[in-house]
Amino acid sequence: MPGAAIASIARMIALRVNGEHRELEVEPRRTLVEALRLDLGLTGAKEACGMGNCGACTVHLDGEAVYACLVLAADCAGRSVTTIEGLASDGRLHRLQEAFIDADAFQCGFCTPGQIMALAALFQREPKPSDAQIMRALSGNLCRCGAYQHIVQAARLARER
Ligand code: FES
Ligand code: FES
Repeated sequence: MPGAAIASIARMIALRVNGEHRELEVEPRRTLVEALRLDLGLTGAKEACGMGNCGACTVHLDGEAVYACLVLAADCAGRSVTTIEGLASDGRLHRLQEAFIDADAFQCGFCTPGQIMALAALFQREPKPSDAQIMRALSGNLCRCGAYQHIVQAARLARER
């Protein structure tokens, strides 16, 4: 029975997600975005293309922005993952989240968590990024609604704050 064979090779992993210790039983082929959404109920990261083309699934892995559809959950054992749900702190939105609201930087909002997480990784390294750095950070994130101008405005607004 194929299902039984897969279940038998599933293994327990421990990792930190949004600052909390979590344990998960994962099959070898389970991706990080699947584990976040289906096993942990963290649905902020979206799965759209599932092949590293759109950026909707962007999260931080040990502080770096990654496409969670291209990372295996099993490879996250012992590592630290941050999703859009973990970006606010002390009851306050991240300055990028506030700036996205103030700049009206979304339409349907499907790409928004990925856009913000891609920018948040940049702002963590570089609190006052240049326009070129902002463009580069956003270059792997698509917006089917075409809200790009407002997304860039939001990043500039966050930079000024
Ligand atoms: S769903 Fe991961 S890059 Fe598109
Ligand atoms: S706001 Fe709809 S895909 Fe970006």
